[in-house]
Amino acid sequence: MTDLTKPRESWGTRLGVIMAVMGSAVGLGNFLRFPGLAAKYEGGAFMIPYFVALFLLGLPLAWAEWAMGRYGGARGYNSTPGIFRAIWPRRFSPYVGVIGLLVPVGIYMYYVVLEAWCLAYAWFFLTGRMAGLGQVARLADGSINKQVFQDFFGSFIGSANDGDAMVLGGQTALTFLLICFLANFVLIYRGLSKGIEKFCLIAMPALVVCALLVLLRVLTLPWEKVNPALGFMWNPDVEGKSLLESLKNSKMWLEATSQIFFSLSVGFGIIITYASYLKREDDVALSSLTSCAGNEFCEVALGGLITIPAAFIFLGATAVAEVADSSFTLGFVTLPMVFESMPLGQFVGFLFFFLLFLAAITSSISMLQPAIALLEEGLGLNRKTSVAMLGFITLIGAMFVLYFSAGATALATFDFWVGTFFIFVLALFQTVLFGWVLGAEKGLAEIDRGAAIRIPRWIGYMLKYVSPAYLLVIFAGWIWQQWTTEEGNMIKAIFADRVVGLSVGFIVLVTVFFLFLIGQSVRRWTIRDHQRQEVSL
Ligand code: ALA
Repeated sequence: MTDLTKPRESWGTRLGVIMAVMGSAVGLGNFLRFPGLAAKYEGGAFMIPYFVALFLLGLPLAWAEWAMGRYGGARGYNSTPGIFRAIWPRRFSPYVGVIGLLVPVGIYMYYVVLEAWCLAYAWFFLTGRMAGLGQVARLADGSINKQVFQDFFGSFIGSANDGDAMVLGGQTALTFLLICFLANFVLIYRGLSKGIEKFCLIAMPALVVCALLVLLRVLTLPWEKVNPALGFMWNPDVEGKSLLESLKNSKMWLEATSQIFFSLSVGFGIIITYASYLKREDDVALSSLTSCAGNEFCEVALGGLITIPAAFIFLGATAVAEVADSSFTLGFVTLPMVFESMPLGQFVGFLFFFLLFLAAITSSISMLQPAIALLEEGLGLNRKTSVAMLGFITLIGAMFVLYFSAGATALATFDFWVGTFFIFVLALFQTVLFGWVLGAEKGLAEIDRGAAIRIPRWIGYMLKYVSPAYLLVIFAGWIWQQWTTEEGNMIKAIFADRVVGLSVGFIVLVTVFFLFLIGQSVRRWTIRDHQRQEVSL
């Protein structure tokens, strides 16, 4: 049972908590997913649904999560099951909190694999392995043979057969995965303030410095090449297609919305958990705005100006459009080729992949905290046991993703169900919780408590009516689009594809396990509540 005499964990400084939330938000989504989507949907046109989703959903929901988290924390809860129970004291509400555990833990299982790829590529650039590959790939006319980089990446991640990536020893994906795993769990074991906060206070500025250096290199390439590259990324009008025509693409609206959630880590169960460690009078209004703004700077200004323009300058529009659909090809095949082609490329390549690694690890540690919170407060486990237990579960998950490497099917299935579907569900539930259960007025008063800025009153109406309605439309559209598309249909694939079916089965198993843990926690919380009532009588 939660030991009420034990002092609760808390953040060290206000800057620390902002950096931790920003660290969670700024990740691979900013530097790989966003540029890929923006290029796929003709840059400028994509930015319209992107900003609509940011203002209608991202920002308001981030405020709601910060406020609800602090509200739950003041009542002694740090995990989504506990916080939902505090806000909506019904039998079912803590069980809905399972999504707030499943999303971060499920995303962690594949995210840490991507993180390992980034660390590996940083190492390959630093140690000259990429330079060697560049020499092999250089053709007589000075251009680079893409196939060499493609084959290298494919064999590194084991894309040909399941099990190919499970090689231990040497510079393999499994070795780098184990290193990343250890780093994550050492940080999480050190705790909120000494582990997560301290690390983010160093890693966040470091990654921005790396990104600015890479950006400087890209923007100081010959201007006659940089100029059209920026145009490719940002001009709303594409040849032969008006802006209005581009905006009719419903898939673009869905992907822009899902990008906002993924990028801000909203609907993940993370911000709400992080905010629960705040003190009752700590500001949430300005802190939330600052971390969202920081994330947008890293995404739009840094991610948007580095990745696609760099690829465009060296490869041209056609080659970029070809890879824009796959963030992996863009990040791990195209960009290494680009770095190999530019002056100072080896150092720039190292900086870029190292910044990706820093961005990824500050996000992945945040994905572990929600489950740790439940294990500690719900089951009364100490840090060591909770960390060991979560380490064991997530290691199985990450090995599962790494093992089923052919065509990255397990990774794509996890990303679809946990990294998109359940994010929408959790976000929807949270808007209802804030706008209708807590109530928009009480919710706004909660945001105002200790606030360094006063947020506009209409945000309350927005959270009550506009955000859930918009979210519902986008969510329904997304399901419809999935259901009616034949190719890449992840719903039908559950029964048609063995690995997709197994991956969904794995996700269900994890969900059942978390539901069991929540059941145990609720039992303990109920006994505690009765004891408190008896004492107060
Ligand atoms: N918000 C994190 C990212 O953008 C998960 O990668």
